Amino acid sequence: MSQVTHLECTKCGAQVSADIPRNVCPQDGGILYARYDLQSLKQNFRPETVRGREASLWRYCEVLPEVEPVSLGEGFTPLIPSREFPNVWIKDEGLNPTGSFKARGISVAIRVAKAFGLKKLAMPSAGNAASALAAYAARSGLEAHIFMPRDVPLANRVECEAYGAQVTLVNGLISDCARIVSERKEQEGWFDLSTLKEPYRVEGKKTMAYELFEQLSGKLPDAVIFPSGGGVGVIGMWKAFEEMEQLDWLPEKKAGKQRPRMIVVQAAGCAPIVKAWDEGKTTVDAWPNASTVAAGLRVPRPYGDYLVLDILKQSLGTAVAVSDHEIKDAVLHWARTEGIFAAPEGAASLAAYRKLRANGSLSENDNVVLFNTGTGLKYLDVIAQKETPAARQIGGIIGPY
Ligand SMILES: Cc1ncc(COP(=O)(O)O)c(C=O)c1O
Ligand SMILES: [Zn+2]
Repeated sequence: MSQVTHLECTKCGAQVSADIPRNVCPQDGGILYARYDLQSLKQNFRPETVRGREASLWRYCEVLPEVEPVSLGEGFTPLIPSREFPNVWIKDEGLNPTGSFKARGISVAIRVAKAFGLKKLAMPSAGNAASALAAYAARSGLEAHIFMPRDVPLANRVECEAYGAQVTLVNGLISDCARIVSERKEQEGWFDLSTLKEPYRVEGKKTMAYELFEQLSGKLPDAVIFPSGGGVGVIGMWKAFEEMEQLDWLPEKKAGKQRPRMIVVQAAGCAPIVKAWDEGKTTVDAWPNASTVAAGLRVPRPYGDYLVLDILKQSLGTAVAVSDHEIKDAVLHWARTEGIFAAPEGAASLAAYRKLRANGSLSENDNVVLFNTGTGLKYLDVIAQKETPAARQIGGIIGPY
């Protein structure tokens, strides 16, 4: 980990050593960011430095922890111009190993865990992070203990079991799964890889921003639309923009606008960030009875709420909710118009773009990147359903699968 100089708390600013495994800030539970000596790095780490390197996220190794990568080919996904909208690109994260952008964060976090000699990893997941953990744990010879809501897309469960993970299906939401991991981890000797409760998944995810910069030939878009549950995509990319600024990669500030507007899309059936944003709050209230076809967006109370809401403010961004009907329509529309079969979460980006064009928040001259965060192939059971299931009230009963 030699490149990481220390970890820094995003709440109190405390600096803690990166030499031992860490979850959150020991003082206030704040999310920890990995920090690098960017002033020294900037002499030799230039945009042109990475040209010709392997087409994976490890091409940005200078701003990643120095660990031996075990690569399944994560990252460097295509940025595809839209056929339908001028000045719009689709970043297709469905082409990652295990079919979603979750592979990025997990590939980095698991290598760090392995470097620390950790053997047993545990994680609550809405589905795709579990698939990624199961695959990378298999590849690294580590144990994966996964807790998922019982109604995750079938593919996620089948895949995790195929990779040999210990899967427990929970009658509840990801928040219930998280509680179980936190209650049992000490006794079981698990390291908790929950979203934003260790510093390195963010590091993997941030590479999406470095890729945008490279793929747009050294420019950044005017806006980025990203489907957010826990919010790690947005948090990671914003951290990368900050790093690029310190590395002097970005053009001179023009009225503070050189970074993109960050736009979060959530499902109307679970939109705690949108609600908090609309109400001008800095943290969210837990969303009651969360329900949506976009399983990855069913996060009633994201741990990184304060960071996401701050990023929306700093970037002059916004948060938009879209209905399951709009999401399903967008899945089919993208498939038929662009040849991209997106996960419902990813297709939510298109639904949000349409809304923001219709209400004038974005114009056709704005350069916008829509993130498709996963492949639709994981959701055949959900997408094949004609009707959206009615909202369910599910409690927190734990059932071993
Ligand atoms: C396909 C997909 N998109 C988006 C998300 C939301 O990601 P995050 O929780 O990092 O905001 C998830 C989370 O499971 C997902 O699986
Ligand atoms: Zn702190």
